[in-house]
Amino acid sequence: MKQSFDNFLQECRERVERHLESSLALEHDLPLHAALRYSTLQQGKRIRPCLVYAAARCLGSVNSDTDHIATALELIHCYSLIHDDLPAMDDDDLRRGRPTCHIAYDEATAILAGDGLQALAFEQLSQLTQVSPTTALALVHELAQAAGAAGMVKGQAMDLYATDTSVDLSYLETMHAHKTGDLIVASISMGAQSSDSGDSAALNKLRSYGRAIGLAFQVKDDILDSEGNTAVLGKQAGADQLHNKSTYTSLLGDDGAKKMLAQLHTQAITALSQFDERADQLRNIADFIVSRDH
Ligand code: IPE
Ligand code: IPE
Ligand code: MG
Ligand code: MG
Ligand code: MG
Repeated sequence: MKQSFDNFLQECRERVERHLESSLALEHDLPLHAALRYSTLQQGKRIRPCLVYAAARCLGSVNSDTDHIATALELIHCYSLIHDDLPAMDDDDLRRGRPTCHIAYDEATAILAGDGLQALAFEQLSQLTQVSPTTALALVHELAQAAGAAGMVKGQAMDLYATDTSVDLSYLETMHAHKTGDLIVASISMGAQSSDSGDSAALNKLRSYGRAIGLAFQVKDDILDSEGNTAVLGKQAGADQLHNKSTYTSLLGDDGAKKMLAQLHTQAITALSQFDERADQLRNIADFIVSRDH
């Protein structure tokens, strides 16, 4: 039976939130532990977990390893947001419509909360039991690469170093491919491998889909920012402009950025052309990313 997209999203969110909840059911009760829960358990769109589940379904079926992978990806993402908001980085007061971690708690607690979440993500991967030990190790490697100094952290560094200078489109693309794209590609690739480790051609197609929607995600973010729509969540509209950062809208104009978004959407859908209706939720996620309004 065909499941509606809204239904699918809600099911994935509830599922990963149950697992996040139990991964954070810590016995200790310091402000640190409250901060971990505060920054993880509320309000996220949970796009990366949804991608994990959708990719697993595309090649096979969802199992308990898919849950651990979905949880790990969201934990890394939540850690990256806490650190991204710190005064030394974006210095943001609001996240997901509420005070950021360092405002609700304090800066040192926020740094430690991020550190704790990152380790917790790898703890999730230590609990993989459905895939072979070789695949489990490959998955640990893949997350480490995507999250670390060759992946998301590299993108964050490129973003910092691009403050107050103008950069070209190719710099912007590499920066976003790491900053946002690597964890999105890892979500898809790791989710797919939780249900099937055999077909590397299919995995490559899924990864190109991931690269296209990863970039589309950021182009859309810049368009929303430039139109002031991120203010809905209480985020400062146009924060990138305030920090003198180049964005797709500043380099290409609003129309140029929208054209690029449409091209990336086509690329993503084309990458899925060999798959049957089991890839429909991935197709829906691509549509959702380009059409979301916040
Ligand atoms: C925001 O990510 C930060 C980026 C990587 C661009 P999301 O838009 O997925 O944030 P949440 O998890 O829904 O809050
Ligand atoms: C955040 O990017 C990316 C990561 C945390 C990896 P941004 O700084 O552009 O995202 P927002 O605008 O704070 O959500
Ligand atoms: Mg940032
Ligand atoms: Mg930020
Ligand atoms: Mg942004």
